[in-house]
Amino acid sequence: MKILLAGGAGFIGSHTVVELIQAGHEPVVVDNLYNSNRKVFERLKAITGKDVCFYEADVCDAQAMDDIFAREHFDAVIQFAGYKAVPESVRESVKYYRNNLDTTLTLLECMQRHGVTRIVFSSSATVYGPIEESPLVETMPSAGPTNPYAWSKYMNEVILRDAVVSNPGWSVALLRYFNPIGAHESGLIGENPLGIPNNLMPYVTQVAVGKLPHLNINGTDFPTPDGTGVRDYIHVVDLARGHVAACDYLFDHTGCEVINLGTGVGYSVMDVVNTFERVNELTLEKVIAPRRPGDMASYYSDPTKAKNLLGWQTEKTLDDMCRDSWRWQKNNPNGYED
Ligand code: NAD
Ligand code: WQD
Repeated sequence: MKILLAGGAGFIGSHTVVELIQAGHEPVVVDNLYNSNRKVFERLKAITGKDVCFYEADVCDAQAMDDIFAREHFDAVIQFAGYKAVPESVRESVKYYRNNLDTTLTLLECMQRHGVTRIVFSSSATVYGPIEESPLVETMPSAGPTNPYAWSKYMNEVILRDAVVSNPGWSVALLRYFNPIGAHESGLIGENPLGIPNNLMPYVTQVAVGKLPHLNINGTDFPTPDGTGVRDYIHVVDLARGHVAACDYLFDHTGCEVINLGTGVGYSVMDVVNTFERVNELTLEKVIAPRRPGDMASYYSDPTKAKNLLGWQTEKTLDDMCRDSWRWQKNNPNGYED
């Protein structure tokens, strides 16, 4: 299948390029490089041996996207393009709504004009909202998103669900990712956050490489076994393989499915820190800090539906995630910059 990866130069998109090629598909990337770097394509060639087709364009640019759709004749679309920093989404809500909705709406109009009927969407576990009873199952109603980023994902889900109703014969997978970490085991591609990271693993690796002085452990008084927050960390390569499985599924099914992509296992902040230190034989500077406002104690998936519907389940361990995240950061202290 020829598959458009909108936002495919980023963290999850670049790993999905590798897995799609290895599964015999033909990925085509469109990205405006807002949060990515064209050097990723040299790295992708080193990993896969292939020149990946790349268009530098804004996915909200309907004319540019129309031209690309007319030229490429896609079999399916994966929609990664969007902004993803939760605190920034609170400060710059209009910017987030504009980009995170416009990218999808522009793609859907192009799909209608060019007869493309399959789309995989990067949704997020954050759509479930503040539910204190994990595991989270797709049938649970949302408790209401708590920030503009989360709302933008929720709204995208509504738009895509309605698009299937108005376009019978379309197939849509709304993939709710839990906490993607890790990197390709080559150490050539990985997460490259803008500025100071918001998320745990890129913060840990930047402390380990000496770019940040210490790690804040945000909250040690949660009702969890060791008092720190519990999350469902998923290796980005497993996550990327989930997209390959979703594309295969969409090929011979119609309708709209919400699907969790997680491991089903919760690890605490201290589990991650201890594992990172053990497998990489180093020690992190740590400071006990207050909880971040709005953080849940425990948040993890029930991944049964993905297994039953897609025949997909995770294979990599927390050791793999910590080893691979560190290899990427150690080999590329400044990401894709020299
Ligand atoms: P990322 O920022 O690394 O990748 C997103 C890519 O989209 C970037 O390369 C960026 O340049 C591009 N982009 C943004 N707006 C664009 C536009 N208007 N036109 C063209 N390209 C545009 O993020 P990621 O971690 O790879 O996440 C991919 C998707 O998955 C995002 O939609 C994100 O919200 C979602 N998601 C991520 C996580 C996570 O923790 N990483 C969790 C759940 C969901
Ligand atoms: C994990 C745990 C923190 C940083 C976020 C988004 C969510 C989704 C995934 C996109 C928590 C603790 C963190 C630090 C810490 N993204 N922590 N010190 O909050 O589960 O989810 O990313 O859709 O929308 O909200 O992930 O990595 O930020 O935090 O102690 O410096 O690590 O308190 O318990 P989170 P996270």
